[in-house]
Amino acid sequence: MSMKPIDNDTDNRDGEDGAQVVGHILQPGVDISHKVILYLEEISVSFDGFKALNNLSLAIDAGELRCIIGPNGAGKTTMMDVITGKTRPDSGTCFFGQTLDLTRMTEPEIAHAGIGRKFQKPTIFENHTVFENLELAMKTDKRAWTSLFAWLSQEGRDRIADTLKQIRLDREADRLAGLLSHGQKQWLEIGMLLMQEPQLLLLDEPVAGMTDDETERTGELFKSLAGKHSLVVVEHDMAFIEQLGGKVTVLHEGSVLAEGNLATVQADPRVIEVYLGR
Ligand SMILES: Nc1ncnc2c1ncn2[C@@H]1O[C@H](COP(=O)(O)OP(=O)(O)OP(=O)(O)O)[C@@H](O)[C@H]1O
Ligand SMILES: [Mg+2]
Repeated sequence: MSMKPIDNDTDNRDGEDGAQVVGHILQPGVDISHKVILYLEEISVSFDGFKALNNLSLAIDAGELRCIIGPNGAGKTTMMDVITGKTRPDSGTCFFGQTLDLTRMTEPEIAHAGIGRKFQKPTIFENHTVFENLELAMKTDKRAWTSLFAWLSQEGRDRIADTLKQIRLDREADRLAGLLSHGQKQWLEIGMLLMQEPQLLLLDEPVAGMTDDETERTGELFKSLAGKHSLVVVEHDMAFIEQLGGKVTVLHEGSVLAEGNLATVQADPRVIEVYLGR
């Protein structure tokens, strides 16, 4: 897969502290030669003196499906805001692969580099069909379009068909997106993200409001995406976390409280205390 490097080789973006900007020496694509796709080191974010993230360090391997849990206000969403460039940390570094320092990139640059984020409220086009939504998500992908009249190429059609199957909406391709169930809308938005071929997917409470059946199907989808993609899933639904079966990181007061498989962290007295103390 080709990922375009951020083209900033002529511009001097050394920080005020004189730190070397790694963006200058970018190779095309994300360098995951050390297996790690995402690396947060001692990230701190404060809002009016309140530390939402407090020296947060975390590493996600390429192809991993990582679950993040933690009580309300633990900093889970803020962490995703830092990764996607929406919030700048006060200190710390956040690397995508070995070379891309996300704290020095803009939100569009980060999305373009291969990080896709799903928000809780789907941003689908309700008055377009399911197929058209996926088509629109692919609009910026020149490979998918034949030049003269901007017709969708066969390759583009095939990719949409594959994605429709993956998100279990192949039978709904011609339906208006606004008529889908809540869960189906969430899948469509995930499908739209997939059309951009992200390497890392960030999903914040993806099964909130879903039926049990939709939740389980979403779990199957995520498990099928792992390996080819890396996923970071924030959820409060423990049955869902159990189904995903990946490594679990517990956040509390802006840092990592515990990490391991779900059974291990659930048995950790510090984790029990944090959850009971809510
Ligand atoms: N823009 C902001 N301005 C001020 N405070 C903020 C801002 N964003 C987050 N916070 C605060 O930072 C803390 C962490 O919030 P965050 O949304 O990251 O928690 P969370 O772990 O996602 O919680 P939840 O499980 O409820 O979604 C909270 O105390 C929140 O009120
Ligand atoms: Mg949140």
